[in-house]
Amino acid sequence: MDITRIMQVLGVAESAAIASAEWNGLGDKNAADQAATTAMREAFNQIDFDGQIVIGEGERDEAPMLYIGEKLGRGGEAIDIAVDPLEGTNLCAANRPNALTTIAIAPRGALLFAPDTYMNKLAAGPACRGKVHIDQSPAENIQAVATCLDKPVSEVNVCVLERERHQQLIADIRAAGARVRTIDDGDVFGAIATALPHTGIDLYLGSGGSPEGVLACTGLKAIGGVFMGRFDFGEDVKAAEKRERAEQMVAEHQQEIDLDGVLTMDDLVRSDQACFIASGVTAGELVDGVRYYDDKIEVSSVLFSSAERSVKYIRNVKTL
Ligand code: FBP
Repeated sequence: MDITRIMQVLGVAESAAIASAEWNGLGDKNAADQAATTAMREAFNQIDFDGQIVIGEGERDEAPMLYIGEKLGRGGEAIDIAVDPLEGTNLCAANRPNALTTIAIAPRGALLFAPDTYMNKLAAGPACRGKVHIDQSPAENIQAVATCLDKPVSEVNVCVLERERHQQLIADIRAAGARVRTIDDGDVFGAIATALPHTGIDLYLGSGGSPEGVLACTGLKAIGGVFMGRFDFGEDVKAAEKRERAEQMVAEHQQEIDLDGVLTMDDLVRSDQACFIASGVTAGELVDGVRYYDDKIEVSSVLFSSAERSVKYIRNVKTL
């Protein structure tokens, strides 16, 4: 992916972070999300490219902006776009750590049109490639991570979304002798953090949104980390409807995936040219939040780039 293009998209993430940070701590998650979405759409439309939303705010009839299939930009190179304009809407509303604006870009046809359902996820850093697997038990994966990172199991930190549905998983992790780091929201952060040693997170397990799975996978794939998923349609009255919608989506976009099988990184991101960008809205372990000075505003971002297999931290200080 061309560096100019990446820098343009970085600017889009920064604009969305600045817009949503206006709502930090004000208790209105919808307004914060709307601000990020509007800013993101406006900024994408300034770019000379043929962008297409693959993962966005929802289907055309439910999302007026950044809906799945929406075309963005002024024409040019064909690019797939996955966004979560404000990942962690509750975190922003409550001014808690790790609210991010997130974007993944890839050549046209590379990103999976992920259905709006849960996905069971496993993520780990590059050292664990080939050693962990979503079909292994938590205890087996924790032991594998401990071996790969050359540390005792008692020092392995597993990040899990704090949810009722994860009670057994959390008990299993503790029974295996590892530590649990729960997060209230924001599993893109949780998954990506496994590749960044300073976060102290070694493994991510549990279910969260499928769209967030594709975003996190893009980042981890770019730098040689591990991501595996499996759709979870649930067992309630809506399960059949969700599966049917997923089948339609796969057929509509001619994507060859097994809806019940293990989703590999190549299923979710079919390119080695993809990159992932996140800008901080609230301060967190990945990046700082938006900061204000007298006549300046500072936005911090992280860029996972497949071209260089690197993670770049970017601090942009803009004069108002
Ligand atoms: P929002 O930013 O849309 O509020 O999503 C936050 C999030 O925590 C995601 O990171 C995660 O994948 C998903 O919600 C989990 O969903 P649920 O809250 O239903 O468990």
